[in-house]
Amino acid sequence: MIMYAMAPSSTKLVPLPDPVSSSTASNAEEEEVCLDESFFINEDYTLQTYVIGNYVFEMLCLPSSSTDYDLTGQLLWPGTTILNDYLIHNIEHFQGSSVIELGSGIGLTGLLCGHFCDQVVMTDHNDIVLKVMQKNINLQHPRTGGRSANIECEMLDWGNRHQLDVILHKHKRGFDFVLGADICYQQSSLPLLFATVKHLLAYNEAGCKFLLAYVSRTKSVDAAVLVEASKLNLEVCEAPNTRSLVAGGVHEGFMFEISLRITH
Ligand SMILES: C[S@@+](CC[C@H](N)C(=O)[O-])C[C@H]1O[C@@H](n2cnc3c(N)ncnc32)[C@H](O)[C@@H]1O
Repeated sequence: MIMYAMAPSSTKLVPLPDPVSSSTASNAEEEEVCLDESFFINEDYTLQTYVIGNYVFEMLCLPSSSTDYDLTGQLLWPGTTILNDYLIHNIEHFQGSSVIELGSGIGLTGLLCGHFCDQVVMTDHNDIVLKVMQKNINLQHPRTGGRSANIECEMLDWGNRHQLDVILHKHKRGFDFVLGADICYQQSSLPLLFATVKHLLAYNEAGCKFLLAYVSRTKSVDAAVLVEASKLNLEVCEAPNTRSLVAGGVHEGFMFEISLRITH
């Protein structure tokens, strides 16, 4: 038998040794407990106000998230601030452009882009995250029942070629920019993330850039980002003057500008 207790300072479930059978635990088969995903799901969002330059957004968001089950997208991450600052300071480059955002979460960056880009596609791989993203679009466009002329959200799991083809079928020219904020935190997801990015960069013959707001948390992920990009022949540059301390000064974040390496 396995007993569970709630650890005092977190929401992680910690298995306790069974007092009766622990003496024979080494002989016992390891038991696997499958918790239904609903166990981790909290959709008690609160309405938050975000101000970026002259733009004000009322959005649904959670105050904290479960990282046991990937619901990291239910709240804003520090990378968003870095990306939004970059966009607002370079607004003239984005006016009239088409953008696709990967791992959009609650959708603040996409909604910001909706003010100056022609076409915005926000994406995520999580149904619950896509649901709150759509609700946040609805909040900005109440008169049209959430329909916006230039913003949409789509399911896109990195590496899923079919989902990517569905999006590109609707957007035959491809995109001028691929955006991502705080989406490089798990080393194992980097190869599929970069494969998706490469496909999008190569698809638009007129040229496309990947603008990644990166928050440095571990040296291994820092290195893996550069390795994965170089394996796919992508050129990675740090954008000047974008470094700042985030997460209460704990981590450093900055913008990467990533493009296809030109070979002659
Ligand atoms: C740390 S959150 C960042 C959310 C948002 N960009 C921000 O900065 O607030 C990472 C986001 O990437 C999404 N994500 C993680 N793995 C993914 C994958 N394999 N494919 C697509 N989206 C993914 C998560 O659902 C989540 O919304």
